[in-house]
Amino acid sequence: ATQRTFYDEVGGAETFDKLTARFYEEVAADDVLRPLYPEEDLGPAERRLRMFLEQYWGGPRTYSDERGHPRLRMRHHPFRIGPIERDAWLRCMHIAIASIDSETLDDPHRRALVDYMEMAANSMMNSPV
Ligand code: HEM
Repeated sequence: ATQRTFYDEVGGAETFDKLTARFYEEVAADDVLRPLYPEEDLGPAERRLRMFLEQYWGGPRTYSDERGHPRLRMRHHPFRIGPIERDAWLRCMHIAIASIDSETLDDPHRRALVDYMEMAANSMMNSPV
């Protein structure tokens, strides 16, 4: 039996694709975040975030098939993430979430997504400054 997940409820692949595309559009133009990304091409990083979020919210498990256990705090260790980086990341994510229309993402789902992103961004900090 298959259960309808948050991923399905908010429009599945199309929504997560839009979300991460918009997010990385902002990252590409952000003076705090852009220099942190080691690769010139942000496409692969966008794909990894998309796969991770899809999996987290009950979609395909492609992320773990390709990358193994997420261990996100460990994977962010090479980057200094203080309050400035966290705020920049969240600014981009809030814009990305706001870009999804309210028919696709109703208020309770939007709230859940925002709350999760804020929690996750806080937990990714590894520097006091
Ligand atoms: C990877 C920055 C928060 C999920 C990365 C990378 C950077 C970065 C520079 C390497 C790009 C790459 O994949 O090649 C940041 C900063 C954050 C932040 C500055 C500020 C708080 C988050 C949060 C999440 C997340 C909150 C999840 C909700 C990911 C994922 C990857 C990644 C899934 C790819 C991991 C992998 O290698 O498989 N991040 N990140 N990040 N980030 Fe973040």
